[in-house]
Amino acid sequence: TAAYRIAVIAGDGIGTEVIPPAQQALDLVAARCGFTLHYDRFDWSCRRYRETGAMMPTDGLDRIAGHDAILLGAVGWPGVPDHVSLWGLLIPIRRRFRQYVNLRPIRVLDGLPGPLREPGEVDFVVVRENVEGEYSEIGGRLNRGFPDEMAVQEAVFTRPGVTRIADYAFDLAATRRGHLTSATKSNGIVHTMPFWDEVVAERAARHPEVTWCSEHIDALAAKLVLHPSSYDVLVGSNLFGDILSDLAAAIAGSIGIAPAANINPEREFPSMFEPVHGSAPDIAGRGVANPLGALWSAAMMLDHLGEPAAARALMTGIERALADGAVRTPDLGGTATTRELTEAVLAAVPAHPPTPPDPQR
Ligand code: NAD
Ligand code: IPM
Ligand code: MN
Repeated sequence: TAAYRIAVIAGDGIGTEVIPPAQQALDLVAARCGFTLHYDRFDWSCRRYRETGAMMPTDGLDRIAGHDAILLGAVGWPGVPDHVSLWGLLIPIRRRFRQYVNLRPIRVLDGLPGPLREPGEVDFVVVRENVEGEYSEIGGRLNRGFPDEMAVQEAVFTRPGVTRIADYAFDLAATRRGHLTSATKSNGIVHTMPFWDEVVAERAARHPEVTWCSEHIDALAAKLVLHPSSYDVLVGSNLFGDILSDLAAAIAGSIGIAPAANINPEREFPSMFEPVHGSAPDIAGRGVANPLGALWSAAMMLDHLGEPAAARALMTGIERALADGAVRTPDLGGTATTRELTEAVLAAVPAHPPTPPDPQR
């Protein structure tokens, strides 16, 4: 039977509360589908930073480069500046392992109360460029403490970088409803965006089966709230994609359920699966964090590992538990704990997942 090696980095705050439920759910569906997962746990976190002066060991990335996937909770904690914790752990993983696609699916699931009165059938994916753009290392802070103090950051958009994310998004749209929306800000102010638009338009010519359009990020944010059901695949730069994905998560009911897959499509390196949310210091330690973002991310990991039946079984558990509606964490308007919602999902996972139509099994 197949066995997969997973590097687990629970991280900080509620990261440590939602990752054990994800592993529990993974083990359940793995057992039912006949494969095993072996976890190597890494305590890389702000706590480790305070104790040792580093978020992870200097050879940290080498230690996880050979794993089949990385499962991450959240990184960041008050007292450690975010630029230290994030540049010390999360961002290096995304970059070094060339996880240039950040896939963030959004669906309004049955029975989930969202803020929109009539959301319609909401099912879209944010494809976020994940290694360049506004999140560049070029720049810094100058003249600290002086009256002429300043901060500068160069946004870096490369032809290969924009080409590959656009191609990924067009290909994904082709497997779905065939429509792509590119988030831009091309009205002449931001130099990088007309370039983004040109490259996306070039790639569009190679994907005639997909209809596409460009929308300005500000107007797009508004339209996404008004007409979320009209979107299929959205592609955006690192920062635009980041903002759109939290906005979209709120449309779906809570940032606590939103999943993310940081993908290295070429599979030269492990991909990383993590909920969209952060460490949530405001609710951490109380056992009430919503585990569904982590569980859904785990389902995306199963798909990536080539275990679609197990992924589907886990998603079915999530969907049934939500539709039932009895067990909800506070972010969803209920009073349930992380544990209770996890148990509800585990109980709702089908006992006999259908075996996938894979001749090799
Ligand atoms: P956050 O996502 O941690 O929290 C935003 C709000 O959403 C909070 O009110 C929080 O209670 C709520 N929330 C988030 N996840 C929830 C869940 N699973 N269940 C219920 N409620 C949930 O964002 P923030 O407050 O901006 O950031 C806190 C820290 O996390 C910062 O250090 C930030 O840098 C870090 N962060 C890390 C990641 C990551 O590791 N990928 C992502 C975002 C933020
Ligand atoms: C996310 C987070 C990160 C990002 C932060 C914590 C650096 O917000 O994963 O969406 O902006 O990529
Ligand atoms: Mn974010």
